[in-house]
Formats: sequence, structure tokens, C-alpha cells
Amino acid sequence: MTAGWFITFEGGEGSGKSTQAKRLAERLMAQSRAVTLTREPGGSPFAERLRLLILDPGLEKHAPLAEALLFASARADHLEQVIRPALGEGRIVICDRFSDSTRIYQGFAGHVEPRLLEALELIVVQNTKPDLTIVVDIPAEIGLARAALRLSVPTAVTPPSEKVPKQPRGLLADRFEARDLGFHKRLREGFLEIARLEPQRCVIVDGQKSADEVAHEVWTAVTTRLLTEAS
Ligand code: TYD
Repeated sequence: MTAGWFITFEGGEGSGKSTQAKRLAERLMAQSRAVTLTREPGGSPFAERLRLLILDPGLEKHAPLAEALLFASARADHLEQVIRPALGEGRIVICDRFSDSTRIYQGFAGHVEPRLLEALELIVVQNTKPDLTIVVDIPAEIGLARAALRLSVPTAVTPPSEKVPKQPRGLLADRFEARDLGFHKRLREGFLEIARLEPQRCVIVDGQKSADEVAHEVWTAVTTRLLTEAS
């Protein structure tokens, strides 16, 4: 059994990382590589149900630890049902957000003790760590403006994998998008800090560049760091 590659995309709101994850998947598939494109929170039917609860903008204030446990629960199912089987078949798994998002949203910029999150990550992720993480970096003000624009256009999100049920995005910012600028600035700092601390795993790309330029940088990272090693 060949192990595939596990690539994650991380970044703040409106960074364009979902577009880039999709473009990378398409480019790899055009080379006849087996790719699974997925996302978090969600990615498996059970985790997609938890996603609806977690991101519900109408949800009453609740304990940050309770929320972190829901992210962990969704991730445990996603890993078991989708990510590990795909990697086991030698597929390239591309995931739009993964455990760095928990470290940063719930830990660094949130209210959960980072050591608790580390313990949860050990239990849930085990050794299924990303081989490559693309951090799409963008100033918080610009990312938020882009996210606001996206909300003003009614769209239905295309599910990243055929296994994921279609969920309308609606016109409401989710609970994280609705947080203040200071929170979003802190998110950016956090993702950059992770990339600084784990340079073997992480590559920062400049989300302010055009989508084509960013896609080019992503492709360079993937080909130099992963595909050349594989061939
Ligand atoms: P989504 O609509 O997928 O946003 P984005 O396009 O920014 O990825 O919503 C996911 C939200 O959940 C996003 O605001 C980040 C947040 N999140 C966490 O707080 N912790 C996590 O572990 C994950 C995976 C996401």
C-alpha cells in the first residue's frame, strides 16, 4: 500500500485558499493523479452535520472548549472516513483547512488553552500530519473586505467531494467571519508564526497577488517539495 500526499491550505478569511485548493486539485487531476479534495470543518457526512452546528451564526454563546471538542470530533470522523483511506490508496488529499486552523482560531486567537489543543491534536490526528501546508497570507482588512463581497453575492457552495452533501452557504457571515478586526489580525499573526516555526512543512504564498500568480506559487511549492521527491 503506497501512502499518498496530504496537502492542507490554511489562512484567514477571504484569502482565496479555497479557490487555490480547487485549482491545485484540477491541475493534479489533469496529470492523471488521483486526488481527493475535501474541507474542514466537514468532509464526511457526519462532520458536515457538525459543521452546520459549529458555524451556525444564530448559535447562543457557548463554552469555547465545547466548540473545540466539536471541531476535534468532526476531524476524527473526517480522518477515519475520508482522509486515511484516501492516503492509504495512494491518493493526494487536498484539505481546505485542517488542524492549524484549530491551533489558531481556538487557541492563539481564541480562548482555549493551547496545551489542551495540542493534546487533542495528538489524540485525533495521530501521525496523519500534513506533508505540505500552504498558508495563503493576506492582510486582515483585505481578506475581510473580500469575504464581505462574497457574502453579498448569493451562491451555493459546491461540495469539494462528491461524498459531501450540498449545503447552501446563505447570506450570513458564519460566527468566525463576524468577529472583529483585531481577531482577524491575530489569526494572520498566528498562521505566519506556525509557518515560521515549521518551515519544512509550511510555505507562505502572498494572497494579494492575482489568482494565477498564487496558483503558480502553489504549484512550485508542490512540485519542488512533493512531486520531485515522489518521482
Ligand atoms: P468556511 O466557510 O469554510 O470558511 P473559510 O472559507 O474561511 O475556510 O468556514 C470555516 C470557519 O471555521 C472559518 O471561519 C474558520 C473556522 N475554523 C475554526 O475555527 N477551527 C477549525 O479547526 C477549522 C477547521 C475551521
